[in-house]
Amino acid sequence: MGLTWNKQLSVGNAVIDSDHKNLINIVNSVRNAIRSRDSFILSEAFVRFEDWLCIHFANEERIAHAVNFDFSGHRQEQQYALCELQHLRDELVAKGGIWSDGATEHFTGFLKNWLIDDHIVRLDMLMKPALQVRDYTFWPGWKDDETNHIAGHTANLYLQL
Ligand SMILES: [Fe+2]
Repeated sequence: MGLTWNKQLSVGNAVIDSDHKNLINIVNSVRNAIRSRDSFILSEAFVRFEDWLCIHFANEERIAHAVNFDFSGHRQEQQYALCELQHLRDELVAKGGIWSDGATEHFTGFLKNWLIDDHIVRLDMLMKPALQVRDYTFWPGWKDDETNHIAGHTANLYLQL
């Protein structure tokens, strides 16, 4: 059974909720790739996952900044999460598709726990009070200098891996 988004997971902002729905679908594809033990499909799924995570983290930071939410703790945890996920990907790729059913359960469980329990419920819910005072569809828009800032931040996340 794949992971699904529900209203209890809403953080009070349409962009972030939409990103989370997308990430849940992507994590489902990574979990399926782990179960299939196909290294090529697994690598592709991880690349997509990491790319979308960087976009999502940049969106969250953009919104947090606009609603005056202190994002420093989030940023640290996001960088740590990207490193953890890269290690997980490297570990799986190194195994060449050969791992036990127990390991499959362990890795798929880790991804579920990280995205749902740790990232959305524990971390992003901290933003909900600040987000709920705005319209659900609130999006601060982009200015040229800020676009460059976020693009730079996203690039930095990659460089730190
Ligand atoms: Fe998030």
